[in-house]
Amino acid sequence: MPSLRIYVGTMTGTAEMVAQEIEDRLGGEGIACETQSMDGLDATAFTAGETYLICTSTYGQGDVPDNAQQFFTSLETERPDLTGVGFGLFGLGDRTYRETFCFGPKRFQTLLTELGARLIGEPVYHDASAGTMAEEVAGEWVIGWLDSWRAEQVPPRCAAALPR
Ligand SMILES: Cc1cc2nc3c(=O)[nH]c(=O)nc-3n(C[C@H](O)[C@H](O)[C@H](O)COP(=O)(O)O)c2cc1C
Repeated sequence: MPSLRIYVGTMTGTAEMVAQEIEDRLGGEGIACETQSMDGLDATAFTAGETYLICTSTYGQGDVPDNAQQFFTSLETERPDLTGVGFGLFGLGDRTYRETFCFGPKRFQTLLTELGARLIGEPVYHDASAGTMAEEVAGEWVIGWLDSWRAEQVPPRCAAALPR
């Protein structure tokens, strides 16, 4: 099983706690993770054949957090070809912001998909006003997400490689 890189966009640290929980849970499943803040990332942050977890909140009026702005803009303007890149998404927001609920993660999802990356598993849009702890939701979610990821690791059928 390949390793996983988690990219974190956060303003007040909740997404970071989410990433930590995911790292702990996946560690327990024997998956090595590396968590990295989106600060300083640019359009070269993705490699074909690798899988990433995008873990980001929403700020302003449906914007990505400050530490994700430069990264997002770089992807938007340089438009790298992300064919062969897989990603999962754990998004954070608050339904109090009805018009822009979870727009930060949703903007990442749309952009990465437009650039050719493949969304793995079901994305989560956590609602801070729902009364659930984001990190607890993430800990439970990631185990199911792992199954989706594993399902993609199944090697292609061997039949084509057999001599005729
Ligand atoms: C000033 C401010 C603006 C926000 N704007 C939005 C928004 O437009 N849409 C949304 O869904 N959540 C919004 N939120 C909610 C945050 O995304 C949510 O609280 C999240 O859990 C924070 O995660 P973080 O600590 O990782 O930044 C806003 C929160 C604050 C304080």
